[in-house]
Amino acid sequence: MAKAQTKIVYVCSSCGMDYLKWAGKCEACGEWNTMKEMSIKPQTRTEKRTVSTAKPQSLTAIKADFNKRLSGDMDEFDRVLGGGFVAGSVVLLSGDPGIGKSTLLLQICGQISAKQKVIYFSGEESAEQIKLRAERLKVNSNNLFFSGETETGKIISTLEKEKPGLVIIDSIQTMFSANVDTTPGSMTQLRESTLNFTEVAKRMGIPILLIGHVTKEGTVAGPRMLEHMVDVMLYLEGDRYQSYRILRGVKNRFGSTNETGIFEMTGDGLKEVKNPSGVFLEERAQKEPGTAITAVIEGTRPFLVEVQALSSRTVFGYPKRTASGIDINRLHVLLAVLSRKANLGMESHDVYVNVVGGMKISEPAVDLALLIACASSFTQKEVLADTVIFGEVGLSGEVRSVNQVDKRVAEIIKLGFKKVIVPKANLSMLKTFDQKIKIIPVQSVSNALKQALVK
Ligand code: TYD
Ligand code: MG
Repeated sequence: MAKAQTKIVYVCSSCGMDYLKWAGKCEACGEWNTMKEMSIKPQTRTEKRTVSTAKPQSLTAIKADFNKRLSGDMDEFDRVLGGGFVAGSVVLLSGDPGIGKSTLLLQICGQISAKQKVIYFSGEESAEQIKLRAERLKVNSNNLFFSGETETGKIISTLEKEKPGLVIIDSIQTMFSANVDTTPGSMTQLRESTLNFTEVAKRMGIPILLIGHVTKEGTVAGPRMLEHMVDVMLYLEGDRYQSYRILRGVKNRFGSTNETGIFEMTGDGLKEVKNPSGVFLEERAQKEPGTAITAVIEGTRPFLVEVQALSSRTVFGYPKRTASGIDINRLHVLLAVLSRKANLGMESHDVYVNVVGGMKISEPAVDLALLIACASSFTQKEVLADTVIFGEVGLSGEVRSVNQVDKRVAEIIKLGFKKVIVPKANLSMLKTFDQKIKIIPVQSVSNALKQALVK
């Protein structure tokens, strides 16, 4: 039979939609200049014939047990997954290079291999490199296997033969399928490899963990497409130069995406941070203007962090604003509110703000503490001692209520603080606490500044 000719199609690298003709804009997702050429081998006639009709099953006859999950002993990881790996699920872990993805997964392999056979496929590093890392992490198990294989067909045959309980693919960008004749890492290969792994995971009921690289822009290379194909997508983030790492769920078919796990990178691997408040407040500079403590909620867990601000007179030209751990636009808004509603104009001052510990906070509940820290640095008045501050700040200078206040206040009490400045609208939810801590309700920014700043 004549060899089937390969066909050229154009695939949008943002959403994965394919087209017969190239175009500058993808009609499906609206992105510009994302179409990449790719060749596909059409199915031959015989291949087409073997496809039989689908046999729909009655839903009542299908057994699914999401409660039976595979987990190691890292609560911080399991919580983000929603309680361990679901059988047959595909999890994509991505993050910047060097952030600790391979380290985290090797530690997890070590723990799971106490119960089940685990195979770690790496196209990134050699067996010796993995072994060195395993020694450093004190991972040592007869049930943990390594393979440098990167061809998906061979990997799948291996899985069929070995029947492991968990599989790691480090990284999806280094894998390739011999059925597709483009280089590893290309759009076609990514799609094909991920499809193959998804298929085998579902068919054999094995959880498969894929490591994915991120591009400079911070999205997974081969972006949206992979996100659609996997069941769970996790991001490991943090500052490379600081030791804390935060694991976040971005998509989770079997759990909440609000959960976060916090780790610290140490000389022998990632350690769980079970009490983030304590760690983030450890090196707090007491009695210095420009710092405030706030209570944030990440997922279901409250914890306290310190926000810092420094304002200094602009020496030349345009005043600078920089923010680390906080959206810079939020800072601009808060400074405008301070200027208009509290008469604290910092138009001729540079303002720098920072969240201690490398945490990134997107919650509006941080607003009030940040605003007070800025005002404190500007006026050189200290923030009331032993006080935690939270609340959202509105554009007309009002302090708005936040959610889950009871959890925040319970954490604040647990850490031994004496006072808490809260939005007035939240007061009714805090009745049970007023014996244990001094609650200072505030309604407006000017009111909050009066309460929070001391000489
Ligand atoms: P790695 O897991 O290789 O990152 P990724 O797979 O995300 O690219 O982690 C690399 C960094 O972690 C590297 O800078 C060294 C550091 N590290 C430690 O600090 N402690 C350790 O125990 C290990 C194994 C790595
Ligand atoms: Mg790696």
